[in-house]
Amino acid sequence: MSNNDAGRRPCVLVTQAVPQAGLDLLHTFADVDANSDEGTIWSKVELLRRLPGHDALYCLLTDTIDAEVMAAMPDVRIIANMAVGFNNIDIPEATRRGIPVTNTPGVLTDTTADFAWTLLMAAARRVAEGDRFTRAGKFHGWGPLMLLGGEVTGGTLGVVGFGRIGQAVARRALGFNMKVLYYDIHPVDAAVEHELNARFTPLDDLLAQADFVSLHVNYTPETHHLINADSLGRMKRTAYLINTARGPVVDEAALAAALHTGTIAGAGLDVYEEEPTVHPELLICENVVLAPHIASATWATRNAMATMAAANIRAYFAGDRPPNLVNPETWPPK
Ligand code: GLV
Repeated sequence: MSNNDAGRRPCVLVTQAVPQAGLDLLHTFADVDANSDEGTIWSKVELLRRLPGHDALYCLLTDTIDAEVMAAMPDVRIIANMAVGFNNIDIPEATRRGIPVTNTPGVLTDTTADFAWTLLMAAARRVAEGDRFTRAGKFHGWGPLMLLGGEVTGGTLGVVGFGRIGQAVARRALGFNMKVLYYDIHPVDAAVEHELNARFTPLDDLLAQADFVSLHVNYTPETHHLINADSLGRMKRTAYLINTARGPVVDEAALAAALHTGTIAGAGLDVYEEEPTVHPELLICENVVLAPHIASATWATRNAMATMAAANIRAYFAGDRPPNLVNPETWPPK
């Protein structure tokens, strides 16, 4: 079976400059119309202008693919997001239109978990602050009270959202001899809890007990502002919040206030409520490490994500179920 009933090579619109490995795979079966301008994100108007005439959309988490955009792409048969998160796409609308949507799970799990730990260590040990201090010429010699931070080894890690990435973050905590608490809608298998030495804990208790709270939930209406002034108030004054999930999971204004007033000790953020804007009150906080959404940004992982997104489109036009379908209701195509 083939979903390419036009009997010609499908035409794929790639919205941003992506790793060559993804484009190379696309070129094996499709005509590719790609944005080659690195760092340029098309506006919605530009996207709407370019979409007609394409059979597939290869997009990124910075592209908002809503009902208006879908209405402008009558020929698009599949949307492949080069990201594990897909909150940039109106999935119910895609499903209503019978358009399969795919993501890139798995290949970025370890890379993202590594980065959550990078932020955790950087926040606790004041690495970014120390870098600024050194560059500003303030380092006049070792000091017994200089830039003291939180102890990581032996502390308590609270993981909120215990899917692939949350579990990978917990696995790394074994090497730091930490107590691991986790919260998710449902507890995981006892075997996984045992392997990771992790205990299911209601969210409020986790917040109250953890020295480090790391967020790994999907962004949905239910997780909007999951961490707000109330939850921050439940955390220890010595605790750190790490967010590599999605910005709007945290009420950024409440977090900035908590960091300024010492409600919590610090934070490490890779994601923001209104990317690429960062709350101005965060920008002037010393006790937060601010990364520009780079948790999956290694050469190997971005190549793997790019290839995976292309492979989903290839599968579709070969008549096969795309391996990373997020709306299975659309398969098989009507
Ligand atoms: C990155 O944030 C992703 O969802 O892949």
